[in-house]
Amino acid sequence: MSRSRPARFRWWHIDEVLPIEADLFGAEQWSAAMFWNELSHGHFYRVFTDDGGVLGYAGLAVAPPDEAWVQNIAVRRDAQRRGIGRLLLEALLAEAGRLGVRAVLLEVAADNAPAQRLYAMHGFEPIGVRRGYYQPSNTDALVMQRTQD
Ligand SMILES: CC(C)(COP(=O)(O)OP(=O)(O)OC[C@H]1O[C@@H](n2cnc3c(N)ncnc32)[C@H](O)[C@@H]1OP(=O)(O)O)[C@@H](O)C(=O)NCCC(=O)NCCS
Repeated sequence: MSRSRPARFRWWHIDEVLPIEADLFGAEQWSAAMFWNELSHGHFYRVFTDDGGVLGYAGLAVAPPDEAWVQNIAVRRDAQRRGIGRLLLEALLAEAGRLGVRAVLLEVAADNAPAQRLYAMHGFEPIGVRRGYYQPSNTDALVMQRTQD
């Protein structure tokens, strides 16, 4: 595992993130405009880099005092299973804790077992389903929630 730490996601990372999005999410990838929008709203975004560039990224939209939503979390395919996703998620949860929000929520594809496992390890529990949330695949989303201690 690299000794790097998640750092602030800046606009100049977007170009590097787009091919990772395309590889991981295909037709459901986020566009540059969506990332610009997230950053311009001041949402809490982190990027994990090494000398080879961006390996992963994640974002949190905070709606204090009640809740925050994990907007996305992704790790480049060749860098997965090295603890980067966990580090990114923990950075988001630390920020939620710092802001004192009551609950952190997220949507995850119902068929995405690896991500659900990562979330379950961090205290997220399923609280509902959004039918056909992901388009065009029409995949259901599981809504998961973690109540802050
Ligand atoms: C989900 C994702 C972010 C995890 O990132 P990662 O850096 O590979 O994960 P980590 O190495 O930090 O693993 C943390 C835990 O997640 C779970 N996990 C991660 N990948 C897994 C896999 N392929 N199979 C089963 N569990 C997995 C495990 O519980 C793992 O802990 P362990 O290694 O001690 O068993 C990454 O697989 C990814 O980018 N997937 C594609 C995009 C995506 O689905 N994002 C989530 C959208 S909601």
